[in-house]
Amino acid sequence: MQNETLHAYLDREVGDEHLRDLLDRIASACWSISALVCRSALQGNQGEAGSVNPQGEVQKPLDLMADEVFARSCAGNGRTATLISEEADDITVLKNPSPGDFVVCYDPLDGSSNLDVDLSVGTIFAISYVPEDASQNALPAGHQMVCAGYAIYGPSTMLALTTGTRVDGFSLDPETDTFVLTHPAMRVPPETAEFAINASRRRHWDGVMRDYVAQCLEGPTGPRGKAFNMRWTASMVAEVHRILIRGGIFLYPTDDENRASGGKLRLLYEGFPMAMIIEAAGGRATDGHNDILDVTPKHLHQRTSVILGSAGEVDLIAAAYTQAERAPDGSRLT
Ligand code: AHG
Ligand code: MN
Ligand code: MN
Repeated sequence: MQNETLHAYLDREVGDEHLRDLLDRIASACWSISALVCRSALQGNQGEAGSVNPQGEVQKPLDLMADEVFARSCAGNGRTATLISEEADDITVLKNPSPGDFVVCYDPLDGSSNLDVDLSVGTIFAISYVPEDASQNALPAGHQMVCAGYAIYGPSTMLALTTGTRVDGFSLDPETDTFVLTHPAMRVPPETAEFAINASRRRHWDGVMRDYVAQCLEGPTGPRGKAFNMRWTASMVAEVHRILIRGGIFLYPTDDENRASGGKLRLLYEGFPMAMIIEAAGGRATDGHNDILDVTPKHLHQRTSVILGSAGEVDLIAAAYTQAERAPDGSRLT
């Protein structure tokens, strides 16, 4: 039997024809970005672009090209009012927003430090409706998202989508240049023995983080009673994709070094969409104290602590933070 195309799937699953059109356009933007990534060395698009993004990070040529491709694709959808991109200082206003229009938040190229070393990168996006009372500059709340997704540009190009109830995965067939449903209803297993954290930051971590990782590393004879595996790809898309396929936990916590700026990852186009995807697949996403989807966005490029993945593991860490709040001097994992 042939796999269902993304186009047929959207016809079946998405009632709002404008949202269908937007998702079609986003899928073709991801297809174009995938081709740009694939040809980056051939076309001389590796290295740095000589500019910095609003967070002061050095931009790569492909960060800028992917941003342009994605924005242009969304602009072709008559109901998209505003765009919020990692690479842009301000909100891009395409039209005066009315209720029912879309706000699209996106990270055009996630994990772009991996580009020149030919490892997985991706695109993350979140779509919300403009609420009744919204002004042009209102920032969409986590629970306002109607759809979230990502594309991963790895050994194959895949697209994962959720409208909140489940997560479906599509593979790009290079022979037909179409996305087809290959991974229906992906689920995050509740338990795991695999964690992902940039352990080079250990000296900056709080007591909960240090204890959590120390206990994982102790293996079968330690308090967790099992051997843990570790991965770090430096590409959130790749970490989340792995967690959707085989479970795990991903942690990019606020720590002593990044606390002043709120953490490393950005709420609107990294934290929110990935939290929606992980929760729709049965996992959990917290900043340690609150569910990420409950965090109120106050700034365009607001950063957040991110701990997401298998529910049992995320619950354990959230409980340790609750306990640490009650006894700040004894912020240990028990
Ligand atoms: P981006 O390339 O969009 O700036 O995102 C990079 C993010 C995320 O994808 C990844 O998990 C993390 O930054 C990597 O951080 P380290 O450099 O600390 O490994
Ligand atoms: Mn990113
Ligand atoms: Mn990026």
